[in-house]
Amino acid sequence: MKRLLVIGIGAGNPDYITMQAVKALNRVDVFFLMDKGQSKDKLIDLRREICERYITDRTYRFAEAHSPERERGDVDYNVSVDDLNRAKQQTFERLINDELSDGQCGGFLVWGDPALYDSTIRILQAILASGRCAFEFEVIPGITSVQALAAQHKVPLNTIGRSIEITTGRRLAAGQVSDTDSLVVMLDAEDSYHQVADQETEIYWGAYLGTPDEILIHGKLNDVADEIERVRKAARVEHGWIMDTYLLRKP
Ligand SMILES: C[S@@+](CC[C@H](N)C(=O)[O-])C[C@H]1O[C@@H](n2cnc3c(N)ncnc32)[C@H](O)[C@@H]1O
Repeated sequence: MKRLLVIGIGAGNPDYITMQAVKALNRVDVFFLMDKGQSKDKLIDLRREICERYITDRTYRFAEAHSPERERGDVDYNVSVDDLNRAKQQTFERLINDELSDGQCGGFLVWGDPALYDSTIRILQAILASGRCAFEFEVIPGITSVQALAAQHKVPLNTIGRSIEITTGRRLAAGQVSDTDSLVVMLDAEDSYHQVADQETEIYWGAYLGTPDEILIHGKLNDVADEIERVRKAARVEHGWIMDTYLLRKP
């Protein structure tokens, strides 16, 4: 039987790797690397660095595949996500069938934690349900960008006894959020913090958390929203893309 390990590698700092992840890395014969284009080469480099640093006394190899992209522009968001996941499923099936022999162990190195805004687990479950590949898999949790954000700002995610909501920039912009006083926003392509009605709300913003490029900004939206927009624009020019997360805390 083939075995797959879905290993959370933390959201940027190689020191975020847990002891459980180190043990898992040392069981893998073939690491599947999904190439997301030149601007995201640093993400692939970090995965290679993690393997070099933590794998001892074992030979392993990498099998690279181009990661399919979501169609953008004038298309229905849910349809484009379904299409993307179908394309990813085909890529994963090919990797598992062609690159792994019976009895071998394959590894997916998932950014942050595999349970948070990541499709790897969902895709593997879909492949198993289709019956087109047979394998067993395990999930190893990792430190999410949400935890990294809270740690770097030295702020608790919740206020005492209250709940937290974790959502996307898209949902914030559409007003599809609850009335929680602590809202964590990820995957924001549109500067959605400008849409928050009460601009006295505090924002704890972090980009490229845990990496040498990390940027942190904290303050009331009234005071820092424009600065964050400027910094995001400049970061996009410098790095080719932006990777940021923020906590909104109502007054
Ligand atoms: C596809 S989700 C993956 C989340 C990941 N599984 C996790 O546990 O953090 C990508 C989003 O995570 C957030 N993110 C991931 N790593 C980050 C980092 N180092 N700094 C800031 N935000 C990050 C950003 O909101 C980004 O748009």
